[in-house]
Amino acid sequence: MKKINSKPFNHLTDEELIRFIQEYSGLKVGVLTGGGDAPGCNAVFQGILDKAEETGYLVVAFKDGFYGVVQELPKLSDALWDAPIDLSMRGGTIIGSSRVNPSKVFLDSEGRVIEKRDYAAKQENREAYVSSAIQSLGLEGLILAGGDNTLSAGCKLSALNIPVVGIPKSIDDDYGFVYAFGRHTSVDRAVGMVDYLRSTAESHGRDIVVEVMGRKCGRIALDTGIATHADIILTPEFEFLSSAVFNILGNNRKQGKRYNVIVISEGAVSVGGEEEYSSKDSDGYGEKILGGSGAAFAKKLSQFYRANGFGDDIVRSQQVGHFHRSGNPNEADRVRGYKYGVGAMELVLNKEWGSMIGYMNGLYISQPIETINHLKRVSDDEYDAQRCNTKLSVLHINGS
Ligand code: F6P
Repeated sequence: MKKINSKPFNHLTDEELIRFIQEYSGLKVGVLTGGGDAPGCNAVFQGILDKAEETGYLVVAFKDGFYGVVQELPKLSDALWDAPIDLSMRGGTIIGSSRVNPSKVFLDSEGRVIEKRDYAAKQENREAYVSSAIQSLGLEGLILAGGDNTLSAGCKLSALNIPVVGIPKSIDDDYGFVYAFGRHTSVDRAVGMVDYLRSTAESHGRDIVVEVMGRKCGRIALDTGIATHADIILTPEFEFLSSAVFNILGNNRKQGKRYNVIVISEGAVSVGGEEEYSSKDSDGYGEKILGGSGAAFAKKLSQFYRANGFGDDIVRSQQVGHFHRSGNPNEADRVRGYKYGVGAMELVLNKEWGSMIGYMNGLYISQPIETINHLKRVSDDEYDAQRCNTKLSVLHINGS
């Protein structure tokens, strides 16, 4: 059988590639990845490509998320055709990603789309460009693999009758009722880092504060903390009282603990404190760029230890940062990612536009793309705000 999604497109210019697709008379579907890259994106493509091969579809990948779609002449990626056949194990997203939002596109003085948010720049609603890109290339619709911002954009497009299906991706695991691919690998990375840091913390008798990502959601922090048996877990959902936390840590030392492990979300805030930002900028979707909660916490903890006679120089902090998202996906994100790719193609075949694939309670399901707007947070069923740690009860309680 002729492989549709392979090689013949090498060395074509952008215009030639677009013409080739326009003239291609078979079935065609588009795909893009939006927002931060997540381990598992390439497994998703693998699933899409395999199902496309089986059903005779040509898969057209837009370059760098909606950035590639909202152009006068769409920007396409030939990575899915050029790539080796086996993609599932590769990290990142080989077709690129961005945080360009079709309803609020920023343009430079020459009318070119800017990838970054720039309030000084001209803004334009380019949702209609999405529709014309789909039509001009003869696509049946567009598969969006993205997080809450990308899939919220998908909801708006769907409301305009633009044919989209969604695949939930989030290293933060912060939305929807279903599994978002990327979160297992991202927690694995943090767990690995804490495990490694323990040996140096123990050697020097230093507390180690590990800041994890997750924005407004403490899921990564909670699960990393449980998996590493951290002494303290701080999440954005629960403001913490610094003095109470310091006392827990100080008491641990008094009882003979040589060092403590503290896992803190980038969005965690103390009572009376404020979020820490690593930059004054916002990202393309308008989200603040968080970072520094761990270092700020470590500084105050050091002051507490010094003032209370525990000693000097016994706290260090470390950010997991983009290491969460880097490298090869783990088994869970490869398998779910792959099946999400296959499932998204099934939604395309069934013409279930405006829906997204999900995995819930052991079942792969189709659900309205709007369910993305449900924010998932760490609840007080799971978190004990007194201990600043996981609650010691699990029966009949939702969790991961
Ligand atoms: O949403 C994923 C995420 O990794 C967040 O946890 C983090 O706050 C943010 O993206 C970082 O974004 P960027 O890659 O733009 O620095």
